[in-house]
Amino acid sequence: MLYVDGNWVEEGQLAVHPEDRGYNFGDGIYEVVRIYKGKMYQWEGHLTRLYRSAREIMLDLPWRPEELSEIALQLIEKNNLTDQDDASLYLQISRGTAPRVHDIPSGIKPVIMAFVRKKARPLEDMKKGWSAMLVDDIRWQRCDIKTLNLLGAVMVKQYAKNAGAQESILHRNGTITECSSSNLFAVKNGALYTHPADYMVLHGITRQSVIDLAKENGIAVHEEAFDITFLKQADELFLTSTTAEIMSLISVDGHPIGDGQVGPVVKKLQALFEQHIN
Ligand code: PDD
Repeated sequence: MLYVDGNWVEEGQLAVHPEDRGYNFGDGIYEVVRIYKGKMYQWEGHLTRLYRSAREIMLDLPWRPEELSEIALQLIEKNNLTDQDDASLYLQISRGTAPRVHDIPSGIKPVIMAFVRKKARPLEDMKKGWSAMLVDDIRWQRCDIKTLNLLGAVMVKQYAKNAGAQESILHRNGTITECSSSNLFAVKNGALYTHPADYMVLHGITRQSVIDLAKENGIAVHEEAFDITFLKQADELFLTSTTAEIMSLISVDGHPIGDGQVGPVVKKLQALFEQHIN
């Protein structure tokens, strides 16, 4: 069952209005929320980010946070997720439907859509790590907004896939930002380095969890931009996201990082994260 614009509908019954601005312009916002053992992880953080994204695109959300929480909880219930199920919840809000003009039509009403899908954790991949490829960050200047407009992300991910890598590491004129759908960390001499949470990267929920866990456990964290040279000389690299959790990147452009295996700091953070979600 999906939740669409105030109704519970079966998959296949859904019709998108031809002039829905989410569909026409990517004019809307979204969140992907992890469900561990039937319970949402960091829901409050996702809600806060959703309202921030809405403000930044001048979209007034007509729903109170409690109403969105109720929709999410009902989705879990109506889809019979139990305390055995790992899943993910997708929630998107389009600006709404109106005759197609670029500026924002007055009186337009946002359209919400949300669904859950069972989704296993990437535990095997986390033991092995992924390969990555450096790609020019061709996205726009407001990557902090979780917008539906994801063509830049689609393209950079596909460049990496076409080259046989699993994820792209993005850079702007040599400064590393993040990955196509995850945040990036480098490990050097036991400390973590990641791009500051400004306009150039998404303010990842998992990124923040990892920063907090690291600091609580005596691992220094530097929210500082770094360049390609620093990246290639890192002891370890890893990415973070709701679906990939903490994933080691063992090579970049075919060159191993460190000894080309999942490193001790990543293993430590994965273990801390495991305790934290249980
Ligand atoms: N991606 N950076 C980008 C560009 C992202 O799209 C994402 C999330 C992240 C990590 O954020 P979080 O830890 O809050 O998931 C960083 C989601 C999962 C997606 O688009 O599927």
